[in-house]
Amino acid sequence: MSARIIPVDPFDLVVFGATGDLAQRKLIPALFHRDEQGQIPAEAEIIGTSRRPMTNDEYRAFAKTALVAHVEPELLRPETLARFLGRISYVQAEASVDDGWPMLEQALSDHQERVRVFYLAVGPALFGPICERLGSHNLVTEKSRVVVEKPLGKDGASADALNNAIGKVFPEPAIYRIDHYLGKETVQNLMALRFANALFEPLWNGTHIDHVQITVAETLGVEGRAGYYDTSGALRDMVQNHILQLLCLVAMELPNSMEANAVRDEKLKVLKSLKPIAPADMDQLVVRGQYKGGPSTNGQLPGYLEELGDSDSKTETFVALKAEMNSWRWANVPFYLRTGKRLGERVSEIVVEFKSIPFNVFKASAGALLPNRLVIRLQPDEGVKLWLSVKEPGPGGLRFKYVPLDMSFAEAFMTRQPEAYERLLMDVVRGNQTLFMRRDEVAAAWRFVDPILQAWKDSSEPPKPYQSGSWGPTAAISLIERDHRTWYEPQSS
Ligand code: BG6
Repeated sequence: MSARIIPVDPFDLVVFGATGDLAQRKLIPALFHRDEQGQIPAEAEIIGTSRRPMTNDEYRAFAKTALVAHVEPELLRPETLARFLGRISYVQAEASVDDGWPMLEQALSDHQERVRVFYLAVGPALFGPICERLGSHNLVTEKSRVVVEKPLGKDGASADALNNAIGKVFPEPAIYRIDHYLGKETVQNLMALRFANALFEPLWNGTHIDHVQITVAETLGVEGRAGYYDTSGALRDMVQNHILQLLCLVAMELPNSMEANAVRDEKLKVLKSLKPIAPADMDQLVVRGQYKGGPSTNGQLPGYLEELGDSDSKTETFVALKAEMNSWRWANVPFYLRTGKRLGERVSEIVVEFKSIPFNVFKASAGALLPNRLVIRLQPDEGVKLWLSVKEPGPGGLRFKYVPLDMSFAEAFMTRQPEAYERLLMDVVRGNQTLFMRRDEVAAAWRFVDPILQAWKDSSEPPKPYQSGSWGPTAAISLIERDHRTWYEPQSS
């Protein structure tokens, strides 16, 4: 079965930071996949820009290397590859001086009417200077859009300053704040599951749901990104954006339509309803951890401090927290969130645990009855499982078995799961902002996160150490067990 392709209008895409990690690992492969699938029109052009001197051919060779490293070899057919590389050119330009910019003007000059996308795959310090030059060189046309990557600031105040700088040149409807989690297939499926099926909505509230768990676990450490990561940490890197966005999609009310602002209005209400965590409750409700070294199949893995080469860093590589909302639907329904690097397994999933039945009519010999659970697996093995109690087959009395109704997307659709960036890049070209964060959403997410950052700053306590390959510090287990609940380990969910 092949996915439906919605053709897009011809466009020019300028990637700033064209020789960086994101361009190499995600953007170039995503664009290739869309081209290979026939979604990109013949006239579309991709212009790589960075400060590095390079010819067009050198940049094409760079793009080819990225494709060989990140695309399935059977898709790299010579004619497909040649067509894609033929769309690519390169302009050397510095973000903060005017050198090179006239070349960019020239490269775009014949295409005033086309959709024009500026993708800022650079650090946030360059967002302002690049936007300023895009404005002063008259590159911003009516159909221009700018895409910015996280981190959008280090806190609410710096996010505001960045948004002001971008907003001087681009109006809000032209600003696409990317959170690649929103482009993941299963994340979009969460909306389909909730809003396209009659089954769940009547149960989707505190009367029937006991609690929700959101886990985004990675096995990798910070690898070569320690420099960036140490200024960020897991709370800013994962919770402020990806995890709070997932929480929004689980918790939001039904929008009136799937129009971008209707969806984003509802997400904003969720973010605004999050109960701020008071400094006095911080130790009970939030756990920060940092990985230590540990054995691996290839020998000993270094700890975070060793990788960083700074034994004083208090940057967290793990966060677990209990979030609650001031809302009718979610009163007294905790959302337990956790994320970390170097954990036991790479897995992202959302577990919605329903309340236990009010009265058990069966004999004790039938065994314990476990609550129903809906598990939405984002990655790997995308799919949905609904755990139910059924009778174990066979004579000899009634005994319960807890089994899942199990839908694996790979098996159900027999098709390649597109990467989040493929969908999101094409949404930018199509002018669809539904899966991008609006400025007020970003600000509301910071309002929840800022007090946690402040409390950590004020505290002399370092993050709690945890063994690489474990599920985080023991304090994260206490956080949920204090409420007589337990984290679901992915293999059992
Ligand atoms: C990025 C974070 O936004 O998301 C990384 O900066 C993290 O630290 C990555 O590894 C996880 O994304 P994915 O799609 O691999 O789950």
